[in-house]
Amino acid sequence: MLRLAHLNKVYANGACALDDVTIDIEAGEIVTLVGGSGCGKTTLLRLVSGLEHPTSGTVSVDGEAIFAPHPAIGMVFQEARLLPWLTVAQNIGFGLAHLPAGECKDLVEDALLKVGLAGYGTRWPRELSGGQAQRVSILRALVTKPKVLLMDEPFSALDALTRGSLQDHLLALWDAHRPTLVLVTHDVEEAAALADRAIVLQPRPGRVFADIRVELPRPRDRLSQDFAETKRIIMNALDGSLSQPALSKNNAGATAGSWW
Ligand SMILES: Nc1ncnc2c1ncn2[C@@H]1O[C@H](COP(=O)(O)OP(=O)(O)O)[C@@H](O)[C@H]1O
Ligand SMILES: [Mg+2]
Repeated sequence: MLRLAHLNKVYANGACALDDVTIDIEAGEIVTLVGGSGCGKTTLLRLVSGLEHPTSGTVSVDGEAIFAPHPAIGMVFQEARLLPWLTVAQNIGFGLAHLPAGECKDLVEDALLKVGLAGYGTRWPRELSGGQAQRVSILRALVTKPKVLLMDEPFSALDALTRGSLQDHLLALWDAHRPTLVLVTHDVEEAAALADRAIVLQPRPGRVFADIRVELPRPRDRLSQDFAETKRIIMNALDGSLSQPALSKNNAGATAGSWW
């Protein structure tokens, strides 16, 4: 569904951010990209979003090549990036201007209800906590029902408790339409909590180091042995990615959670 084929990205200053990255992602799959700083995670998302062009290689969604921002692809950033001169409801409804006002209002109210923010529609972004603002930015990205949602470390600025609750909100929202979700994180717990696949990237140049299938049923019990084992497998790959040359052939078939 989402196909990244032989992506290379060399920036004008000579930095090789990505080297021959090929990833195929199925419709509705949740993929977490995990990796140390500078291994090309943000570059990868920007290429998929069409905000940036690869030096070579292609990105396609359902066979359609992506060269520029596309309505089927939504993006959420680390900071909420709400428009400060619009209310919460106006921010969420920003991409729904083509709908009749009543329909837009209903969609926005329904969305706010789902993430525990009923009644917040008339507030201003500055009146929200960090976690509330990020919930609003996720709603804004999802309300147009994109086929693909890209998220670049969306919860990393939040405290652990808020982060856990937003991960649960995200899964509930994802479940409504099941977009293909690609989420960047450097938090192994977050990867284990969310991923169908955790793809570990290695730095300099950015390459796929491991592609780990996580087959734990949802909702996931974060205190279970299986969850701890999944975290251990991802952590091992992450450690390896920071200290070894590419081993993608050896690691590509690793599966977490399938043998219990
Ligand atoms: N706009 C840019 N111009 C030049 N180099 C960049 C640019 N953006 C990122 N890089 C370089 O590309 C590499 C990957 O960066 P990035 O994609 O931001 O990694 P990550 O998100 O994993 O930390 C780094 O070496 C970074 O310095
Ligand atoms: Mg980044």
